[in-house]
Amino acid sequence: NKESSNSRGALIVLEGLDRCGKTSQSGRLYKYLDEQGHSVESWRFPDRNTGVGQMISSYLANKSQLDDHAIHLLFSANRWEKRSLMEEKLKSGTTLIVDRYSYSGVAFSSAKGLDIEWCKAPEIGLLAPDLVVYLDISPEKAAERGGYGDERYEQLEFQKKVAGSYLSLRDSSWKVIDATLSIEDVEKKLREVVLDRMMTCHKGKPMSQLWP
Ligand code: TMP
Repeated sequence: NKESSNSRGALIVLEGLDRCGKTSQSGRLYKYLDEQGHSVESWRFPDRNTGVGQMISSYLANKSQLDDHAIHLLFSANRWEKRSLMEEKLKSGTTLIVDRYSYSGVAFSSAKGLDIEWCKAPEIGLLAPDLVVYLDISPEKAAERGGYGDERYEQLEFQKKVAGSYLSLRDSSWKVIDATLSIEDVEKKLREVVLDRMMTCHKGKPMSQLWP
């Protein structure tokens, strides 16, 4: 609504374990911002609509097997193929709410035992988020939520390792929200941190690249 024509959008990333509520929260946040008259889009990774995304989808559904390094690079390539569009959108003033990003890439692959620095390398040069929100839930609690689906990583023992990887990736710039609060309370906290960061971006916070 009050965005001047030369102000940029914000790159907002939501991260967390499977079943933490990220997808519903990013949907609710998108709807709210859109209704408030902001220019906003809802994105997610993996983006299963591209050729690379279809390979990832088939891997996640256990319909194909891939070396751990190879699938890691596909997830990264899936972000690279969207990078220029992402930059264009942000520069033209559109805020992007992104469900998973490079942190998922590193957390899930390093949970399999891959070297963390090796995992981070292909992400170098992607756009750095203006805000990372971590929806915090224990793997046990997440598992209780209507159960996991049939996808490859949706298993308690593996999610415990992913939680550990996320913990080593987190830094003080991340906003951590207790994902066990009610949907409405999580939504309210999320709106606050996002609106605040959108404002700093409109005011000219420079864009940067991974890993800052
Ligand atoms: P989704 O359930 O959010 O669509 O994500 C599918 C799975 O892929 C989820 O278990 C997290 C995992 N993942 C990675 O392993 N690496 C990545 O880079 C991304 C974006 C997701």
